[in-house]
Amino acid sequence: MRILMTGARGQIGSQIRKMLPDDWELIATDSKTLDITNADSVENMLSGFQPDVVMNTAGYTNVDAAENDLEKAFAINAQGVLNLARSANQHGVKMLHLSTDYVFDGTKYTPYTESNYPNPLNIYGKSKLAGEVAALSANPATLIVRTSGVFSAVGNNFLTTVVNNAKQGKAFGVVDEQICCPTYAADLAAALITLVRDYPQMRGLYHFTGGTALSWYDFAKKIVTAAGLDTALVEKTDSTSQAITRPKYSVLASEYDIRLPVKTIDEAIAESLAALQE
Ligand SMILES: NC(=O)c1ccc[n+]([C@@H]2O[C@H](COP(=O)([O-])OP(=O)(O)OC[C@H]3O[C@@H](n4cnc5c(N)ncnc54)[C@H](OP(=O)(O)O)[C@@H]3O)[C@@H](O)[C@H]2O)c1
Repeated sequence: MRILMTGARGQIGSQIRKMLPDDWELIATDSKTLDITNADSVENMLSGFQPDVVMNTAGYTNVDAAENDLEKAFAINAQGVLNLARSANQHGVKMLHLSTDYVFDGTKYTPYTESNYPNPLNIYGKSKLAGEVAALSANPATLIVRTSGVFSAVGNNFLTTVVNNAKQGKAFGVVDEQICCPTYAADLAAALITLVRDYPQMRGLYHFTGGTALSWYDFAKKIVTAAGLDTALVEKTDSTSQAITRPKYSVLASEYDIRLPVKTIDEAIAESLAALQE
């Protein structure tokens, strides 16, 4: 299997690279070696490497910054995705693309499945939804995996931010009224590899997250407790403390009867904390 991966230095791309089967051939690109907003570069890369699958793990992922950076967020999350999907379609190549729970408005209060209607509240969510539409319309051989709250020992994610804050010994606020299912990057990477290998005909949308729904505040408490740090430093805040609107409830569930293993949230936190020590 020949894989062209974009955004390969990101949190999810790095994790997939670590776990990729030995007999898969990989071209791992970052924003310098393949800027997905440049349609010619995308086309040259695809025609040169002739992959079986394009795995797009690139994205504009800073939810807060996107609000004042609309053009760039859409250039990467929508136009860049369209460039990849168009070229992949031209070459008859399947595309695996990642999207987010933030395409939903959070007013449902029961888990969102693939057939629920999206209605994003912020620029990041809108740009990701535009990317979904672009990918599916330009290349019917696209599988979009929506996920949420990805964490690991790598990069700037919720777990590493919470640990850094708590280590500094300063109190910090975490929102209590937004519920999602945090997803362990290693579980997601394993799931994506399985989907590519074992479900080659799968198309459209698929929801994959960790198995525990909880508030960001409760998640922070779990992390700080597991790290043996002071839980009193974690203070409860409400959404008014945040600069932009986020869904209050963005738990995802799938209508597909596919069993992809996930670690318990406590196991995943423990593994991430152990990896942080290495
Ligand atoms: N993390 C989450 O909680 C989460 C949840 C739901 C969905 N997702 C989606 O999953 C995907 C990957 O997320 P992540 O957490 O791994 O993000 P990440 O760590 O921020 O990595 C994103 C990567 O995209 C690359 N990139 C940015 N602009 C690019 C461009 N113009 N051309 C090519 N590459 C570009 C960046 O490369 P450089 O560093 O070289 O700029 C970066 O390495 C994104 O589509 C995101 O929306 C993430």
